[in-house]
Parts: sequence; C-alpha cells; structure tokens
Amino acid sequence: MKKKIINILKSNDDFISGQMLSDQFGITRAAIWKYITQLKKEGYEIESISRKGYRLISSPDLISSEEITPLLETKVFGKNIIHYDSIHSTNSQAKLLCDEGLQEGSVILSEEQTSGRGRLGRNWSSPKGSSISMSVVLKPEINPVHVAKVTQISAAALSLAFEEMDIQCNIKWPNDIIINNKKVCGILTEMSSELNKINYVVMGIGINVNIDEEAFPDEIKSIATSLKIEYGKQISRKQIIASFLKYFENLYFEFINTGSAESSFEICRKRSLLLGKNIYVIRGSERTPATAVSIDENGELIVKYEDGTLSNLVSGEVSV
Ligand code: BTN
Repeated sequence: MKKKIINILKSNDDFISGQMLSDQFGITRAAIWKYITQLKKEGYEIESISRKGYRLISSPDLISSEEITPLLETKVFGKNIIHYDSIHSTNSQAKLLCDEGLQEGSVILSEEQTSGRGRLGRNWSSPKGSSISMSVVLKPEINPVHVAKVTQISAAALSLAFEEMDIQCNIKWPNDIIINNKKVCGILTEMSSELNKINYVVMGIGINVNIDEEAFPDEIKSIATSLKIEYGKQISRKQIIASFLKYFENLYFEFINTGSAESSFEICRKRSLLLGKNIYVIRGSERTPATAVSIDENGELIVKYEDGTLSNLVSGEVSV
C-alpha cells in the first residue's frame, strides 16, 4: 500500500486529497494518514494541508523498490525487488530465499550489511545509506563450469553503467572494479548446484558509492575508494542500480541465448587493468611473477610465467 501511495504522489505535482486516496485504495482516511506518517519517517518529505491533502516535496536517497522501479528499463531483472533497511548479508539472505523458490531476476538490496562477505572469506564493509549491497538471483540452464563467466558479464555491465554516468573505471580480472588504482566495487558470485545442473546463482555486488574517506576501516583505506571520493560529488545509488540492471540483462541474455559471452569479454579486455602488465599470481602464501597476456574466449586470464610457460586462470587471485 505504501508503494501505491508513493507512486500516486510521485505522478502528481499538485495536492491529492486524503478522500481521493482513501476512495482509490478502499481504505479509511485514518489508514492513509498512518501510511503517510510511515513514509515521512522513511525520509519522504510530504506536505499535508487540511482540505487540500498531500503533496510530495522530495524523496529520500533509498534503494527501495519504490525508488528504483520507476527508473527500470528491464523486462526481467529488478521486477521483484526485496529491500532491507539492514541485513546480515544480501548474498546469504538471497540464498535463504532461493531455497524457498525465489525466481530469476529477483534483486535483494539493503541499505547496510552487518556481516557483508567478500571473496576468500574476507569481510566486506557496507555502511548505511552510502553503499550499494545488491544480490541478483540467476537460474541459468548452463553447465556449472561456465558460471565464472557471469562474474565477467557483471563486471562489464557495471563498467557500462558507470560510463553512462561519466565515471571511467578499470576492470581487474576477475571481479574488481577499480578507479585510480583503488577498489570501488567487488563481485561475489555464489551458486548451489549438482554436478551438471545449477539450482541457482547469487551474484553479489558491493559498491562504495557515497562513502567518505574517514568512514573506511583503517586496514583498507589505502586500497579502497568510493565514487564520491573520486568524483567529488554525491552519486545517485538508484540510478547506478537501474542502469546496471539494464546492461546486465542485455549481456546476460545474450550469453544465455547464444552461448557466448564474447561481447562482455571484449568490454573486460578494453577496460582491463591487468593486460600487458607484470602481475603476481597468488596461491595461498605463494606469489608467482607473471605477465597478463590476454583474456581468452572463455573469459579465462592467460598468464605467462617467467620461464615462458603459459597458463589459464579460471578464477583466483592476482595482484599488480
Ligand atoms: C570482493 O571483492 O571480495 C567481493 C565483495 C562482494 C560484496 C557484496 S555486497 C552484496 C553481497 N553480499 C555480500 O555479503 N557480499 C556481496
């Protein structure tokens, strides 16, 4: 009901009377007042004048369904948005909901995470209202060995969404988005599968959007940044999400329908932070020097070790 009320207020510049809202939705004027009070608590600025009704003055910077749905240009992704004020981890929550049958294209969003997870068991910090914590549910009918490609598709879509907002970034294979050599976004792709069949994939994306420098934990200050720090202005979180979902939907269904993710890999190559550079391949505590040669037709990183041998990395960790 709250969503319906906010939508009608958004589509009218003028006052709408309590009576009209109550007739339209078949609830009492007192109930309308209760919803308006809740919306005000969530940060919607609503003017209320007796005998005139209600008028929306401004909306808060929330990443709720009410705020994102009007911006969506997708057919499947984001049609079902589940939004939390606070959650342990959107990926963990998405997995729980998938076990209960959540459909493909569902998007779980939270204003903050209290136990956000990164790759390799690391923590991921997601401060309230200034970051994006998003998990997208996929049910691809592909062999589980191809799931790593979805991470590359996602990285490509993120870079296109950033570019649409005049934000230039690099992609650090396989799952980091980098601006000025610092990480602004990470992707954690998890799945539940049998040997040959995927039950579901949860693609988790964490973006540092409007985080100020002092809000980063000390141990990551030198390697992490936010869009606001790099561009010196507030960036709209809901715009990034809507734009990402648009690009992701196109690239993902191209992959599902043709079996090839070449368009995404081409974007990853063009924006690659690693290609042509001397890097280290990290396995446990071992760091082996190599050169990043190319990203092949499977999205794998081809590296050349100092003894001249070539190797394909499917996923894993590399550093510059
Ligand atoms: C990484 O770079 O290590 C990946 C970070 C992924 C963080 C996102 S935030 C939304 C989703 N929920 C999580 O707990 N993690 C991912």
